[in-house]
Formats: sequence, structure tokens, C-alpha cells
Amino acid sequence: MQKLTLLAARTGLVAALWATTSIAVAQPTSAGQAPSVQHDYWPGRDKAVPHVSGDGRYSDTYENWKDAAAIAAARAAGKQSHEINFKDFRWLTKSLDAELVIDEGREVFHRKNADGQSCASCHGDNGEKLKGVYARLPKFNTRLGRVVVGPTQIEACATERLGQQDWRVDTRANSVLDMYVASLSDGAVVDVDVASEGPLKAAYLKGRDLFFKRTGQFHYACASCHTPPSVGNYLRGQRPTTFFGDAAQYPIYHFPYALPGDDLAHVFTLQHQIRSCQQLSRMHQGKEGSPSMTAIEVFLKASANGYPMSIPTQQYNLDTDYLEQ
Ligand code: HEC
Ligand code: HEC
Repeated sequence: MQKLTLLAARTGLVAALWATTSIAVAQPTSAGQAPSVQHDYWPGRDKAVPHVSGDGRYSDTYENWKDAAAIAAARAAGKQSHEINFKDFRWLTKSLDAELVIDEGREVFHRKNADGQSCASCHGDNGEKLKGVYARLPKFNTRLGRVVVGPTQIEACATERLGQQDWRVDTRANSVLDMYVASLSDGAVVDVDVASEGPLKAAYLKGRDLFFKRTGQFHYACASCHTPPSVGNYLRGQRPTTFFGDAAQYPIYHFPYALPGDDLAHVFTLQHQIRSCQQLSRMHQGKEGSPSMTAIEVFLKASANGYPMSIPTQQYNLDTDYLEQ
């Protein structure tokens, strides 16, 4: 019975999504111009502000998860994980399994090339010089003349400075390094400056457009699932969150899932996550590190501005007590 109700709730939601996605049937005009597709954008992108508190204007659950005390109070009041934007475990609880990934990342960080050089040669034995850096990524790299995210910056350093050609994005070495470097910013407050004019702001605006733009076989936008009414409701057996604050826990330990490139490290960089969503919602999958994927990452990370990073956490709550609540 419970199962049936759940199924009905799910079907209802999907139907609602379809209803709102149905596009006006495009008719060729008498002048013979190409038909225009209506409703290119999911509504609401103008409400987005680059700060985690912006969620107050979407799911309005921010008060439940803005800090540890708020999360504890919400739990005590009987709120469930999805009403706390999953921050009860994705932000508050560190993952012991993911610590092993960080250990592996640390090992790669110190791995010497034929000339005896490693990441540590330039960035400090314990990565001292990279402390807090991840909270300010993505950023504009003046030398490369483009906006970089963790994995693309790591790829540039690895290939150009160490000659490590197989540490490119989408490899196990790159993913575990990304996790290690991100862990050096654990607790640092996300601060991606998209207010000042420049390439980062331009990327934010482009990423915001892409996030709200409908596309793909189902004509969904990212926002179709990651803003109300879908937020907090069941969808393909999962409950999507709002886009606020999530980037502060990425890269994330995503056991038991892994993408082909990461070679069973079970690390989802933010762009792995985006690609996974694109695939599951039948959108075109972007290429890791491309300008468009980077723009979406800038948008998501800036939507976590003001929230402290929490690395490493895991995507799924593997504590089974949680299922009983
Ligand atoms: C020979 C010195 C050198 C080595 C080796 C090196 N880097 Fe870098 N790294 C730099 C410099 C210089 C920058 C500044 C940005 C640039 O020029 O790309 C940088 C930037 C970075 C940043 C961004 C820092 C910021 O402030 O935003 C990260 C993260 C990083 N490197 C990680 C790594 C990792 C991981 C490795 C090993 C695969 C590595 N680097 C190897 C010199 C090095
Ligand atoms: C059809 C609905 C749907 C669409 C469209 C969709 N997502 Fe998701 N997304 C989900 C669900 C469901 C999850 C939870 C997945 C999980 O628990 O593994 C998720 C997870 C995420 C997460 C991780 C944080 C979280 O909520 O668990 C991010 C970040 C994300 N999606 C970004 C995007 C972006 C960017 C797009 C557009 C390219 C997109 N999503 C499109 C349903 C969707």
C-alpha cells in the first residue's frame, strides 16, 4: 500500500513536470518562418542571487540548514533530510570511507616524476599553499586566459609542469587529487566573486541561463527538477535539492556509483554530477572542463557563497537508521 502511494506520488509529479513542459505546438507562420518554440526557459532565473541564502526565495528551507544549530533544531523538530536540503549528512557528517580517497590523493600529490618533482614541490609538503583555495574556485586563470575549476587547474599543472599526461580530467589520479586539494579547504567559506565585472561574472550569467534553459529529449531544464515544485518530492526514486549550497560539498564521495573515467574511485566532481544529471534527464552531456560545463559549475558554486565547505562527505546516507525515520 505504502509502495502504491509512493508510486502515485511519483507519477503525479512526473505528470506535473510534463504538463509544465508541454510546449505550444509550433505552427509554421504564413510567412514561412521557422516555428518558434515557446517557454524556452523554466521560470525563476531572475530570482537567483549568488549567495546560499538565496534559497529563501526558492524552496524556503534555508532556515533549516543554514548552520549546524539550525540543522540540529530541524532534526529535533522531526524534519526529514529532504527538508534540510540533505545537509544533515551531506554537510554535517564526514565520510570515513572518503578519507581513504583523500589518502590516495595525498599519495598522488607526493608522487615524483622522473625529475623528482611532484605537486608538493611547488605547493608545500602538506599542500600548505593550497589551503582555502578550493573555496574560491572556479576562478579566472590569467595565465591560461580562461576560467578554471579544480580538475582543469590540476590537469594544467600536472601536464605542463610535471609532464604527467595521464592525470587529465576524468581520470582516477585527477579525481583523487581534486578530493585531496578540496579537503585542504574544509571549513573555508565559499567565496566566488561573481559581483565584479569580468569573465567570472560572465560565466555565472551564462551558467544561470544554461541551468534554467530547457533542452534535450524531455525538454527539461536543470531548474525543472532543482527548484519547486520538484524539490523535496520523489523523482526517479530520489529527491532533488535546490541548487543552493550543494557545491560546498563537492567533490563528493559517491559510492556505490562511479563514472567510467574515474576508475572506481567513486568520486563525483561537480562536473561528474552535472553530467550524470544530463544523462539521466536525456540532455546532451557536456564535456568536462568545457566553457559551458565550467559556466554551470560557476553558477552552482556561487550559489553556495557564504556556506562553509565540508569535505569529504558522501552523496548517500549509508546509515540505515535514516530509512526508518
Ligand atoms: C612547478 C610548480 C608547480 C607544480 C609542480 C604544480 N603546480 Fe599547481 N600551480 C603552480 C602555479 C604557478 C599556479 C598558479 C596558476 C597557474 O599558473 O596555472 C598553480 C595553481 C594551482 C592551483 C590553483 C591555485 C589557486 O590559487 O587558485 C591548484 C589547485 C594547483 N595548482 C594544484 C596542483 C596540483 C594538484 C599539482 C600536481 C598535479 C600541481 N599543482 C603541480 C605551480 C605548480
Ligand atoms: C529529471 C530531474 C533532474 C534534472 C533535469 C536535473 N537533475 Fe540534478 N539531480 C536530480 C536528482 C533526483 C538528484 C539526486 C541524485 C542523487 O541523489 O544521486 C540530482 C542531483 C544533483 C546535484 C547534486 C546535489 C543533489 O541535489 O543531490 C547537482 C549539483 C545537480 N543535480 C545539478 C544538476 C544540473 C546542473 C542539471 C542540469 C544540467 C540537473 N541537475 C538536472 C534530478 C535532476
